[in-house]
Amino acid sequence: MNICVIGQGYVGLPISIKAASAGHKVYGLDIDLLKIEQLKLGISTSPEVTKDQILILQRSNQINFITELVDDLSIEVFIIAVPTPLNEYGEPELKMLENACLTVAKYVQSNTLIINESTSYIGTLRNFIYPLIENNSSSINLRYAVAPERIDPGNNVWHLENTPRIVSGLDKIAIGQAAKFYSTFCTQVYQVDKPEIAEAAKLIENTFRQVNIALVNELSEVASRFDFSLHDAINAAATKPFGFMPFYPSIGVGGHCIPVDPAYLSYSARQVGVQSRFIDLANATNLSMPAKVVSRIESQLNNELNGMNIQIAGIAYKTGISDIRESPALELIRVLESKGSQITYHDPLVSNWKHLYSEPLKTDIDLGIIVTPHAQIDFSIWKKSGTNVIDLSSSSNNYGWPKFL
Ligand SMILES: NC(=O)c1ccc[n+]([C@@H]2O[C@H](COP(=O)([O-])OP(=O)(O)OC[C@H]3O[C@@H](n4cnc5c(N)ncnc54)[C@H](O)[C@@H]3O)[C@@H](O)[C@H]2O)c1
Repeated sequence: MNICVIGQGYVGLPISIKAASAGHKVYGLDIDLLKIEQLKLGISTSPEVTKDQILILQRSNQINFITELVDDLSIEVFIIAVPTPLNEYGEPELKMLENACLTVAKYVQSNTLIINESTSYIGTLRNFIYPLIENNSSSINLRYAVAPERIDPGNNVWHLENTPRIVSGLDKIAIGQAAKFYSTFCTQVYQVDKPEIAEAAKLIENTFRQVNIALVNELSEVASRFDFSLHDAINAAATKPFGFMPFYPSIGVGGHCIPVDPAYLSYSARQVGVQSRFIDLANATNLSMPAKVVSRIESQLNNELNGMNIQIAGIAYKTGISDIRESPALELIRVLESKGSQITYHDPLVSNWKHLYSEPLKTDIDLGIIVTPHAQIDFSIWKKSGTNVIDLSSSSNNYGWPKFL
């Protein structure tokens, strides 16, 4: 089939590559001209996709990266994979989804399947995407489906092909067509009756993580006051073979999913008059972590943060990827700077952020803080030099009350 994937980011590029590898002819559309130029050269925007994959599929004309659609491409399936962030009030910001829908409306031909993969609030397909496209297009028999993306960039075990794909749609034909399409490259497709179920499932998955991470973050302080390792307690609890799943404390949550999706669920709840206090509390707890951690460090250092030279190791929101969206490391830097600390950072995957540029790990600093320990960072220089280091990564057994290593 001829497929157009709108948005070539962490979600859109892998789906384009998988669909093209499965034999579909794919048009990968993005409004970011630089991104498209880089993709044409084989520079990937996703850890899931290699340069070779991009170049081979391009050479065989199985995939084309474009910045604009033209009328005669005979697209049979549109997939929307654009960002769905929060606005300044912490509410859904669907401007990019709206623009993507208007692009679909402009070029869609009759009898086409339109699939939304972007995460959004419950009812988005029925109440936002469907009327927007129908009101702006004269094509008929359009089918509307939803297939929320569950990709975990950098996860070597679970990826697009072997993670079950939830699909639904506004009618049985749309559900069937979407299920058939995803079956061409996903090993398991799980159909649900209503798009609201699929949309809610995606939000519930990430809210589950947000809430459980908030719980252990709260408990980290309890453990530190009792002077035991929360990691050890969690690992002990995890020996129970049923009814428990371990989560580990951290400086907070980052990325485009865990800090954002629960706000979409909370918004959905408010739309029907329900206040989701649990979700909002979890969000607030995780957001408060960088400031809490700084005050813990401050009390260990006898309030001497002012004028200290501090280097942060890893500012991406998780190891192995360059994504800094909502990364708690950024809030940590902001809070430390507000206390008068001089901040530098080292992140081999993030060349710069605002006024800062990644610098090699230094030893002429007062304190090193490990936030995101990418495999590419060689910490031996800190170990050998005896640099004061605090490990705030969720893999650190020292977490709770930060301890010098
Ligand atoms: N990043 C993840 O791990 C992940 C996982 C599952 C679901 N999601 C969801 O998938 C969606 C996309 O997220 P992402 O991480 O891929 O974002 P991204 O920023 O990596 O990529 C989105 C791309 O869409 C492009 N774009 C925006 N508006 C466009 C338009 N009108 N036409 C064409 N291109 C347009 C942007 O230029 C960008 O390149 C979001 O709803 C997100 O919540 C993300």
